[in-house]
Amino acid sequence: MASVLEVRGGKPLTGEIFVRGAKNLVPKAMVAALLTEETSTLRGVPQIRDVEVVSELLQMHGVDVDYQQEEGELTITPGSLTLPDPIQVDALAGSSRIPILFCGPLLHRLGEAFVPDLGGCHIGDRPVDFHLKVLEDFGAVRTSTPHGMHITAPKGLRGKPVRLPFPSVGATEQTLLTAVMAKGFTELSNAAMEPEIMDLIAVLQKMGAIISVDMDRTIRVEGVDKLHAYRHTALPDRIEAGSWASAALATHGDIFIRGAAQKDMTTFLNYFRKIGGAFDVQDDGIRFWHPGGELQAAVLETDVHPGLMTDWQQPLVVALTQATGLSIVHETVYENRFGFTDALRGMGANIQVYRECLGGLRCRFGRQNFYHSAIIQGPTKLKAADIVVPDLRGGFSHLIAALAAEGTSHVAGIDIINRGYEHFMQKLSKLGADVTMQS
Ligand code: EPZ
Repeated sequence: MASVLEVRGGKPLTGEIFVRGAKNLVPKAMVAALLTEETSTLRGVPQIRDVEVVSELLQMHGVDVDYQQEEGELTITPGSLTLPDPIQVDALAGSSRIPILFCGPLLHRLGEAFVPDLGGCHIGDRPVDFHLKVLEDFGAVRTSTPHGMHITAPKGLRGKPVRLPFPSVGATEQTLLTAVMAKGFTELSNAAMEPEIMDLIAVLQKMGAIISVDMDRTIRVEGVDKLHAYRHTALPDRIEAGSWASAALATHGDIFIRGAAQKDMTTFLNYFRKIGGAFDVQDDGIRFWHPGGELQAAVLETDVHPGLMTDWQQPLVVALTQATGLSIVHETVYENRFGFTDALRGMGANIQVYRECLGGLRCRFGRQNFYHSAIIQGPTKLKAADIVVPDLRGGFSHLIAALAAEGTSHVAGIDIINRGYEHFMQKLSKLGADVTMQS
């Protein structure tokens, strides 16, 4: 039975917590280690489910993985690789999209790879067509099997010009992990440029890859024959930092987030300030607090980097329920990322979702049946409710709403939050939240 968290809301969250390595970099750096037989070391690794899943996947492929949780240090030794039983991978990978990123490294090391049907949060269809097209462009051949896809590269992998239809983070990572040891040059245009992508490029460069990045979203890779081990400290998790900052705003709190980095959070900090939040950037973290008085409604549009990251949208929407006036949010990265607002309406929030593009950005979802814009009227007093967590970021947003609401809420399926928020129960307690984990 999924755990239920009892939340006695209405108390400001105050105190200090720390964030470690980014959930959306660490698993990719772990996969990159497959590109060499040598032992790589990754530091700042958080104890989250996504890291555990990828560790188990690596071990299924014959890789030695050792994780020192206290120090946050992970050592990965991909000596002799083997392809695991597809059924085993399928059973484990149901909760992750990372397995598809194993393709490039396994094709280079073993000449074949297996990709199960993928999991991950249900925030839209989340196809992998861009990934498969990239692999085919490099010369990979795939055949469907009952549990997923078997992929080979009969003529090897050869670099070529690749253009993404959309600056997809995953497809950019797919291209990088394949191009670094493909024959010849690869020129990737319309690439994602998120900080996590740049950190993966730093990891690959440490391994011996030759990669350059132009400001016009073009990434150029010159394939090399051999790569070596890396030692790397992962960049801090800007999404976790933004989530807790939004919690400080929604609960009238004051949280110092040790490890938060201003350079990765520029657009979030701008919106946080426009809504009326206060923040102070220090050498070792950022303090976020509600300065008192009214919060102001805002117009938000999510976008690929350097725009407002889509994963910040959901926590900010909860803060906007406490802002005076009408806020508008246009979600342009995922077509179905407002499902979590159902529960907020049940708590008294005044939120209406629309199929129209309510923003200035060109969006792929206009004139279709996707409710990807929202208007939030605030402030509304949130009432406690019994909630079931829908996905990782929506789940954390429900937690914020329960913490802000007067009364006692019960949040079921809270385990999902372990996927991306390290030790969130300890952090809640440290911040003075009045919560109890039930069975
Ligand atoms: C990564 O997902 C992150 N996950 C997401 O964070 C993040 O929201 C997203 O990038 C955007 O920044 C990880 O890194 C593990 P995409 P990813 O490929 O790579 C469409 C979280 O909670 N698309 O950039 O899967 C896709 O449907 C998660 O931490 C295709 O159409 O995202 C979406 O509309 C949520 N075909 C858009 O592109 C493809 O083959 C962006 O997806 C691939 C993507």
